[in-house]
Amino acid sequence: MILVVGATGQLGGLIARMLLDQGKPVRILVRPASAYEPLVAAGARAVTGDLKDPDSLVAACQGVDAVVTTANSVSRGGEDTVASVDDAGNANLIEAAAAASVRHFVFTSALGADPEHLMPFLKAKGQTERRLRTSGMTWTVLQPNLYMDTWIPAVVGPALARQPVTLVGEGLRQHSMVAARDVASYAVTAIDHPEALGQTLFIGGAHPVTWRDVVCAFEAELGREIPVRTIEPGEPVPGLPEVVKPLLAALDTYDSPMDMTQLSAQYGVRPTTLLEFVHGFVTTSRQAAGWARGAPMRGRLQR
Ligand SMILES: NC(=O)c1ccc[n+]([C@@H]2O[C@H](COP(=O)([O-])OP(=O)(O)OC[C@H]3O[C@@H](n4cnc5c(N)ncnc54)[C@H](OP(=O)(O)O)[C@@H]3O)[C@@H](O)[C@H]2O)c1
Repeated sequence: MILVVGATGQLGGLIARMLLDQGKPVRILVRPASAYEPLVAAGARAVTGDLKDPDSLVAACQGVDAVVTTANSVSRGGEDTVASVDDAGNANLIEAAAAASVRHFVFTSALGADPEHLMPFLKAKGQTERRLRTSGMTWTVLQPNLYMDTWIPAVVGPALARQPVTLVGEGLRQHSMVAARDVASYAVTAIDHPEALGQTLFIGGAHPVTWRDVVCAFEAELGREIPVRTIEPGEPVPGLPEVVKPLLAALDTYDSPMDMTQLSAQYGVRPTTLLEFVHGFVTTSRQAAGWARGAPMRGRLQR
C-alpha cells in the first residue's frame, strides 16, 4: 500500500493517478473539505487526517509500504502555515511513518532547501529533509525547480486575455522550470528504484528558460505579439497576491540552469519542453469555460 499525502493538490494528484494507472494500491490522506472524490472513484482509498493531527497520521500509516508526500502550506492558509504544516506537520508524518515501519519515504522538498535558510519555507523543507535522513527509514528527497504549471500561468497567462505581461526585473535570468507531470514521474519511479534509496534528486526541465523565452513561446503559440512591461522589485504585480512579489523579485537575482541528461535517462523521464507545455496550457485554457475572463489562468497563486 502506498500512502499519498497531498493528493488533493497539483503534484500529489498527478502522482496518485499515475500510481492508480499502474494498478498500485493507493491510500490518500484527505481532509473533509477537499475534493478527493474523483480519486476515490479512480480506485484510491481515502483516510481522513491532517498533518497537524498526529493521531490521524498513526492510523493513516498502518500497513503502508511507502509514503509519498507533496503536502505544503503555501496555497492553503488559515491554520495551515509553514510552522504548523511544513515544519511540525512533516515531523508528525515522519514520526508516524517510522513507527509504522514504513519501508520508503519520498519527500517533496524544493530546490534550495536548507535547514539554515533565511526563508522560513525553505528552512522548514531543509529541516524536514534532515529529520527524514535520521528517521531510520529508507528515504528519497525530491528537490524540484519551479513548476511551469504554477508560475507560467500566473506570470504570462494574462496574455491569453490580451492583457500585457508584467515581469519583475528584465526577465533574462535562466531557470530550469519543470512540468509538474515530470516531477510526478520521478516520484512514482523513485518508489521502487534501487538507485533512489538515500538519494536527493535535483529535478529541472528540458532546458533552462527565461521569462522572455516564455513570452516568445506564447507569441509563437498565439500568433501575435504580446506587450511586456517591466517593473522594479517591490512594485505591485497586477493580479497577483503580495506573497508572490518577493519570490518573483528573487528569481531575477540568480540563475538556476540544470542539466537533466543523466537523471532523465536513469529514471526514464522525457522532460517536457517549454513549447510543449505552452501548447498544452493554451489549448486547455481555450477549452475551459470562461477562459477569456482570465479566471482559470491565475487561480493557483490566488487561492
Ligand atoms: N510549485 C512550485 O513551483 C514548486 C517548486 C518546487 C517544489 N514544490 C513543492 O512541490 C510540492 C507540491 O506542490 P503543489 O503545488 O502540487 O502543492 P498544492 O497543489 O498546493 O497542494 C497542497 C496539498 O497539501 C495538502 N495539505 C496542506 N496542508 C495540509 C495539512 N495540514 N494536512 C494534510 N494535507 C495538507 C493539501 O490538502 P487540502 O486539499 O486538504 O488542503 C493539498 O493536497 C510541495 O511540497 C511544494 O513545496 C513546488
